[in-house]
Amino acid sequence: MDKTRILFICLGNICRSPMAEGIFKHVIKERNLIQCFELDSAGTGAYHVGSMPDQRAKEVCEQNGIKLLHQARQVHVRDFEIFDYIIAMDTHNFKHLQQMSSGSCLMMMRDFDVHAHADKNVPDPYYGGVEGFQKVYEMLLHSSHGLVDHLMRKK
Ligand code: 4NP
Repeated sequence: MDKTRILFICLGNICRSPMAEGIFKHVIKERNLIQCFELDSAGTGAYHVGSMPDQRAKEVCEQNGIKLLHQARQVHVRDFEIFDYIIAMDTHNFKHLQQMSSGSCLMMMRDFDVHAHADKNVPDPYYGGVEGFQKVYEMLLHSSHGLVDHLMRKK
């Protein structure tokens, strides 16, 4: 079976999108679907290129048995040729990606969160406390399960 390639995107690629990548990977391992997917993450901005994830993102994920090993990189137009799905964390990222290309299937992460209502953004936790990262973790966990359900229905 062909692997489905997914790229998770936020602004800095040190908080939300590496968390999304790590949490999604954890979910597909649990659901015995690891062989079906190839994952990566990137940022629309270049401020943190080469950095490891934010300490608070690492702590919250580690408390849930998830190790984040990603090194930040900036999204590139060629990513639209490589990945089947590009998943934005918020509408700001989404609009930035729309302007880069009309290629790969562009979606919002919380479109797949059954607990999300009108607001489909994963809020930027960078300037807040660790509790913001905990909220982001819960949103990304629900969204990951919803996204796996959606993609497996299409296979
Ligand atoms: P992220 O969070 O987009 O979830 O990785 C941010 C990290 C850094 C900055 C903004 C958002 N920053 O402005 O440096």
